[in-house]
Amino acid sequence: MPDARPKAQAELPRNKNEDDITAEVLARFSTTPDPRLRQIMLSLISHLHAFVKEVELTEAEWFQAIEILTEAGKMCSDKRQEFILFSDTLGVSMVVDLLDHRKPEGATESTVFGPFHRLGAPEMPAGGNIAHKDQKGVPTLVSGRVLDLDGRPIAGAVLDVWQAQTNGLYDSQDSNPDALHMRGRFKSDADGRYLIRTAQPVNYPIPSDGPVGAMLKATGRHPWRPAHIHFVVSAEGYEPVTTHIFDRIDPYLASDAVFAVKDSLICDFVRHETPGPEASRLGIAGPYYTAEFDFRLTPSATPQASVMDAQRRLAALGARA
Ligand code: BEZ
Ligand code: FE
Repeated sequence: MPDARPKAQAELPRNKNEDDITAEVLARFSTTPDPRLRQIMLSLISHLHAFVKEVELTEAEWFQAIEILTEAGKMCSDKRQEFILFSDTLGVSMVVDLLDHRKPEGATESTVFGPFHRLGAPEMPAGGNIAHKDQKGVPTLVSGRVLDLDGRPIAGAVLDVWQAQTNGLYDSQDSNPDALHMRGRFKSDADGRYLIRTAQPVNYPIPSDGPVGAMLKATGRHPWRPAHIHFVVSAEGYEPVTTHIFDRIDPYLASDAVFAVKDSLICDFVRHETPGPEASRLGIAGPYYTAEFDFRLTPSATPQASVMDAQRRLAALGARA
């Protein structure tokens, strides 16, 4: 009597070894219609299976991984994105950032966006104080220019700025999480100049009360980030850059929990004991710091992902406004 089963099924190997399984899974995905999705799925499966075989993953370890991912999912809310933290602390965010934002020589380098950007930062005039509620931090003036790759000023560039408070927490992590603090949107003037008043940035630990914190602890890693200020700088006709500036003397520069430090983004925060004319004009009475940093933007031929796209992306993940 002829075999009634479909031929392909009849021909499946009976005693599969682990490589037969990998081959079968790859074959099943090989007809994915979208070429990019096909490439990604085939590569993902090849690497994932190779990893499981290389470490000879046990069932208990595999189940533990499922539990960790489940826990990460449960921790995500409008205020918390544990999967972005995993991506950041595993260095994946920085690899993706490097691959997807290759810049020409001289352009300001990008770095991680992180999970703490918020919509609705107030527009501020030059010299506006983003740390208006801060009582403890040392006043700090950050200034510089927004330039093109030939050093010409870019007027009207938007600098979207955010920073952790002096207590090491972002506003959204603090006691009044709905209030905006240490955030502002500044515009460059006709010479490309900008001026921001803030408080001296501090180093702080990333949230470590969840599975990412457990992973850091189990692997002997600390959760600290070196002191920094976040920027997204955008201007009509240029690629926006998502970046930070870092304090040169911070002890965590060489071991940032999210691998985001680049040499070109490190700058000097210079202490002054008495206010100069600009500091006096802005109402600074005692010691303060200044930091200078020029942003150099790459011309864009096509409309590029902007800060709004980044915000929409986070909103889609349930991030708060
Ligand atoms: C931040 O700098 O805000 C940040 C970046 C990545 C992970 C956690 C925090
Ligand atoms: Fe930060």
